[in-house]
This record gives sequence, structure tokens and C-alpha cells, in this order.
Amino acid sequence: MTSILSDEAKIISFINMKGGVGKTTLTKDLGYFLATQRNYKILFIDLDPQSNLTQSFFRKFGYHQGNLLDIVEPEDEEDENVLAGSTKTKCKKTIGSDISIQKLFKPGVISHLKRADCLLELNENISIIPGTLKAIFSERNSNIENHLFNYINQTNLKEEFDFIFIDCPPTYSNYTISALITSDYYVTPSKPDAYSVLGIEMLHEVVKRVKEEHQVYFTSKSLKSLGVIFTELAPYSKGYSDQINEIKTSSKIEELNIHFFEKHFVYNSYIPKRAEYFIGDSSSNTKEDLIVLADEFERRFNEIE
Ligand SMILES: Nc1ncnc2c1ncn2[C@@H]1O[C@H](COP(=O)(O)OP(=O)(O)OP(=O)(O)O)[C@@H](O)[C@H]1O
Ligand SMILES: [Mg+2]
Repeated sequence: MTSILSDEAKIISFINMKGGVGKTTLTKDLGYFLATQRNYKILFIDLDPQSNLTQSFFRKFGYHQGNLLDIVEPEDEEDENVLAGSTKTKCKKTIGSDISIQKLFKPGVISHLKRADCLLELNENISIIPGTLKAIFSERNSNIENHLFNYINQTNLKEEFDFIFIDCPPTYSNYTISALITSDYYVTPSKPDAYSVLGIEMLHEVVKRVKEEHQVYFTSKSLKSLGVIFTELAPYSKGYSDQINEIKTSSKIEELNIHFFEKHFVYNSYIPKRAEYFIGDSSSNTKEDLIVLADEFERRFNEIE
């Protein structure tokens, strides 16, 4: 197998117009696994207004959103033992960080922004452009769509990372557009239920529209689908495989020629319980599944290039 690494980072949006399908969790766990177990350098970008991805990484690495110089004791953690196998080191202090994506999406010119204005390095392999719970995402501002693209170029981030993972919101907005015009690929996390055909179809329309309306971004790069990854947000039930067959064989999906990952992002009951739980650090069976999914993810680049 040829190496999937190139001189420039592969930018990947994790996107589905449907909410609550596991976009954030898959971005976080697959990315963290690739960074910690496969030694890729990964930048996470949190475009989801709920900023759950940021909260997970901040808790894991001992940060909180706030002033950089502000150091506080973390909340008590009662059920530390519940998470047998998690190697989270308990942080005595959390460091406040006011670095966030908010600066990037301010209206107006952003050419003055430096790498450190928006990007926080969590360790050698993991960096994040944190999201914020502040209200920027509710502002409607059509002049900010190119800001993410410009920031990545002006700070040469593509040369620094192997992958840039963007956790997208479940809505069609300027932020979704900014993610797609910046990305080389997109992954579609999807629940294996009857409505997912609709969500996949809708996303296909959105991608088509963004490509048509923002052609200038796609002259020297493309935006390719890596495929749909089924996310099991509840314990696997017998009905799943029937649903999945129905989805794959629906005439609309066949027409769109969509790739489906063989491996699913499988159910893990710890995930909803603790924001700082990362499968890559656990000794759960789910980690074995994640290894197989990560292998398949890496192979996809050779398959579609
Ligand atoms: N593999 C999994 N096993 C168990 N629970 C999961 C799994 N993946 C995600 N979840 C849970 O499902 C819920 C939705 O997941 P998540 O927030 O990742 O979805 P999302 O698509 O990012 O949602 P939104 O559209 O609101 O951004 C969360 O409570 C999460 O903890
Ligand atoms: Mg999300």
C-alpha cells in the first residue's frame, strides 16, 4: 500500500445535514486515535456551535474556556472508577484559554490573524481551533465564508499537519459553506435508520450547490466523498442490517453512487457519559473496532485517488 501522506494536509469535513448522528463523536475519536496510535499530526476545527468537541479536548488536556492567565481547580469527579481502562490523567489545574474560532469569523479583514490567535496546540500531534459557546454562530454574515480558507492558507497550516478534521454543524449555513470550500474530502456519519437516505441525499445536493456557487475554490482541488460511516448510537439490534440493506439498495442511493464504509462506528455506552472519554485510550472492545475503522479510513485515500 502506498503511503497516504503527502506534503499537504488532507482537509476533511465530517458532515451531515441531520443532527445528532455522531458527527462530533466520530471526528473526535477517529482523529484522536489517528494522532495517538498512528502518529499523524492532526488539527481539529470545531465549527459546531455546541462546541462539544472543544469541551472534550479541553477536559482531556486540562483547559477551560476563559482567560489564558486564569488557573482554577476543576470540578470534582465522582465516578472516576466507572471508566475502567480510561487512561485519563486527572488534572489538578485547568488552564483558561481564550483562543477560539470567534476571532476567525469576525466580519471584516482577517489577514492580520496569526496561527496562535485561533489555534491551540494540545500536544505534539494534536491541535485544535476551539469552538465557542458564544453567540457568533447565530449571526448571519455572508462575508465570512472565505475566512477559514484564508486563515489556513496564510498560516501555512496545510504544510504543518497530516489531517485537518472539521466538525460541522447540522445546518446549511455560512459555516457549513466555509467548511466545504476549505475541504478536500468529506465523511458522512449517518445513523442506520429510515431517514438517513434523505439526509445523505440532502447533503449530496448541498455539496453540488456549494461546488457550483463557489467554483473558484474548486479549480485546483476537488471535494470528494470518502463515504458514509454508519454510527451506532444505541446497542446493535437485529433490525440494523435490514435497515442498512434497505438504505444501500434504495434507488436514490444507487443513483448517487455512494460509498459505504464496511466498518461501523460501534456503540459504546461510556461515550454519552463522559466528555473526556476517548476510545483510543480505553481498553474496551470498541477500540478493536476503531482500529479496523481507522484502517479502512486510511485505505480509502488509495482507493479513490
Ligand atoms: N458510538 C457511540 N456510542 C454511544 N453513544 C454515542 C456514540 N456516538 C455518539 N454517541 C452519542 O450520541 C449523541 C449524539 O452524538 P454527537 O453529538 O456526536 O452527534 P452530532 O451529529 O455531532 O450532533 P449535532 O448534529 O447536534 O452536532 C451524543 O449523546 C453522543 O454521546
Ligand atoms: Mg456535533
